[in-house]
Amino acid sequence: MELIQRPRRLRGGDTIRRMCRETRLSADSLIYPIFVDETLSGKRPIDSLPGQYQYGLDTVNEAIAECIAAGVRSCILFGIPAYKDAVGSSAWDAEGVIQKAIRTIKAAYPDFYVITDVCMCEYTDHGHCGALCGHTVDNDATLELLCKTALSHAQAGADMVAPSDMMDGRVGAIRRTLDAAGFEDVPIMAYSAKYASAFYGPFRSAAGSAPSFGDRRGYQMDPHNRKEAMKECALDVEEGADIIMVKPALSYLDIIRECSDAFDVPMAAYSVSGEYAMIKAAAQAGLVDEYRIMCESALSIFRAGANMLITYYAKELAQAIQKGD
Ligand code: PBG
Ligand code: ZN
Repeated sequence: MELIQRPRRLRGGDTIRRMCRETRLSADSLIYPIFVDETLSGKRPIDSLPGQYQYGLDTVNEAIAECIAAGVRSCILFGIPAYKDAVGSSAWDAEGVIQKAIRTIKAAYPDFYVITDVCMCEYTDHGHCGALCGHTVDNDATLELLCKTALSHAQAGADMVAPSDMMDGRVGAIRRTLDAAGFEDVPIMAYSAKYASAFYGPFRSAAGSAPSFGDRRGYQMDPHNRKEAMKECALDVEEGADIIMVKPALSYLDIIRECSDAFDVPMAAYSVSGEYAMIKAAAQAGLVDEYRIMCESALSIFRAGANMLITYYAKELAQAIQKGD
């Protein structure tokens, strides 16, 4: 058989296959989500996320030590506060759970990179991502709360803030607040294309942040839309976002690709709780090979154009990358 082109030549063995890889992963681009519960001592397994824990302020540094041991150098913090109210005032309390967690981590690990999720839903008694006006979230009133929260995180020592609320204008408002207080070097990672997704289910039980009525479709994006994602990213870049994010990841690889082609800022993807929980459940049922599915899922997100990945598998992935898998 006379064949000039034989693509299989480059697949003939492990060395040549590795040499020809178009996508290379690095543990440097992995970010590990950590839940900190203000009233907890020790750590408690999260039922909806097998293998993940809520940490008390007394154990949060164990989570950091595990990250460092695995080669992961960054985390994103989510708080479970001691008290909730209508406006979520525990979110910007200087002695709040996240503010204390940042100081605890930074005291022991000053070089570990701490990103904070900035949103109101874990702190409001109704579980929505902002202040209510009737049954809808009041956009402009919420901006003020988000700014206070982001500023309090920066003052506590956060390296980066990541607003996940999806209010209009929040990136610009947070940027101005941080700059006015002398935090012009604290970057903003914007959850820019954040879809109203069923994939957040396990997170909401882990963080205690499910809305007590209605849903988040009035502020998070409609999964049917693609152009709207471009618009959200463009607005966030204009308003001063240093990094833009697409979330969830696996069902939105088209959006990751398109946004990474279109915008000149680094792109993050968030492989969310439901993506993790589905792999865990399928693996526990003996249906798939967890390790290989984990690796293949992560690399597909980077192949789509993401520069960094927030994932509950960060530590395991860092080790897999180290092995060359
Ligand atoms: C807070 C927030 C959520 C997630 C990240 N930040 C939940 C939500 O919007 O309901 C989801 C993360 C995950 O599912 O892993 N707004
Ligand atoms: Zn929220």
